[in-house]
Amino acid sequence: MPHMRCYRERSNARLEVMRIFLDTANIEEIREAASWGILDGVTTNPTLMAKEKREYDSIVKDIVTIVDGPISAEAICNKCDDIVAEATQLSKMHENIIVKIPMCIEGLKAVRKLSSQGVKTNVTLVFSGTQALLAAKAGANYVSPFVGRLDDISGHGMKLVEQIIQIFRNYGFKTQVIVASVRHPIHVLEAALMGADIATVPFDILKKMTQHSLTDIGIERFKADYEKLPKK
Ligand code: E4P
Repeated sequence: MPHMRCYRERSNARLEVMRIFLDTANIEEIREAASWGILDGVTTNPTLMAKEKREYDSIVKDIVTIVDGPISAEAICNKCDDIVAEATQLSKMHENIIVKIPMCIEGLKAVRKLSSQGVKTNVTLVFSGTQALLAAKAGANYVSPFVGRLDDISGHGMKLVEQIIQIFRNYGFKTQVIVASVRHPIHVLEAALMGADIATVPFDILKKMTQHSLTDIGIERFKADYEKLPKK
């Protein structure tokens, strides 16, 4: 992985542990992942919400009771003033709500206004370093580069993450990088090696991150050998 550079080695300002968010609106998955003691937050989007076939607000209210960390809920309006109104409403639901705003000119204007009002934002659908730069300049608290969707069209998702980390480091932006649209554990591994702030991970991939066939074989062997010990 020659393209990788380590962000944290060269930046004393940002020494926090990488955080893991769950990328889902499914309450059972969130409850299960939270029980593992490793969950720092949740990201949702309208597609994930629609899968649950429940009312939007009630899902958000359930999530905030389970996870004490940033919970991204997406605004869907197109015009700046409408986005600001929608985001303000969403942010009033709970202090941990981060409003996801799609990357676009009206979205940038909204992020600037919301930032001055203290509403936290996550600029989503980021596919280039220049989009991330503009989002950070507008005052976004988070940007979400979609690595899997870039890989899907033969782009290089993690190369984008590396670029964004470098840009933010060059200018001391406090905007945090959420590696999103994660497709497999290697995305998370590379994110951690680069020093990305956060990876938001679907539940099936979070489970895969716990697994290794040699671990399973080792557990079975230790159990079998334990059984061979002389009994009292
Ligand atoms: C999270 O913030 C994103 O909405 C999500 O990771 C998108 O993932 P997808 O590309 O698998 O839909």
